[in-house]
Amino acid sequence: MTILIAYASTEGQTRKIARYCADYLNAQGHSVELSGASDAADAELNRFDAVLLAGSVHLGKYQKPLVRLARKKATALAHMKAAFISVSLAAAGTDEDDWQGLRDCVANFASKTGWTPQTVMHVAGAFRFSEYDYFKSMAMRWIASQKDQEVDPHHDKEFTDWAALKTSLDAWLST
Ligand SMILES: Cc1cc2nc3c(=O)[nH]c(=O)nc-3n(C[C@H](O)[C@H](O)[C@H](O)COP(=O)(O)O)c2cc1C
Repeated sequence: MTILIAYASTEGQTRKIARYCADYLNAQGHSVELSGASDAADAELNRFDAVLLAGSVHLGKYQKPLVRLARKKATALAHMKAAFISVSLAAAGTDEDDWQGLRDCVANFASKTGWTPQTVMHVAGAFRFSEYDYFKSMAMRWIASQKDQEVDPHHDKEFTDWAALKTSLDAWLST
């Protein structure tokens, strides 16, 4: 298959996840184009058999370039094999309220863009203290403490389950 992966990433974890998906799908024999969401705005989706859009949650929202891309391509996305990867820290846990919050984020994304993804993969992200300014670092330490998470502000902490991501990609492509 020829697959487009378009992503938006604020601190870099979604970029890492998108690259991982591209490498994995390439290794499976697919032809993959990896692009930032802004650059993908002019892509002709009919060149592709499948599309993966990926973005991360910040204060309940996805990155604007990703929202713009999904809105612009909503009709094409609705008529092809297309999935959405939502990266967040809530997806690292099992709190039912947090998971409801994630479902609400996806529902808001769908109503803003006009594209309701048939497949949504919730992927756990990372604390990236190396990318935070002072205030973000303090806010993220506070969030971690609320969740009883041990974090060291001198070290990034990754929650992404790479094996589960492969399984989700396989399941998506086999449907
Ligand atoms: C300022 C800020 C706000 C965030 N807000 C949320 C949130 O509302 N819900 C959530 O589950 N994760 C939240 N996160 C966690 C990010 O989704 C997570 O760190 C993710 O890995 C970021 O991906 P990126 O590096 O591709 O931007 C937030 C992170 C930051 C820095």
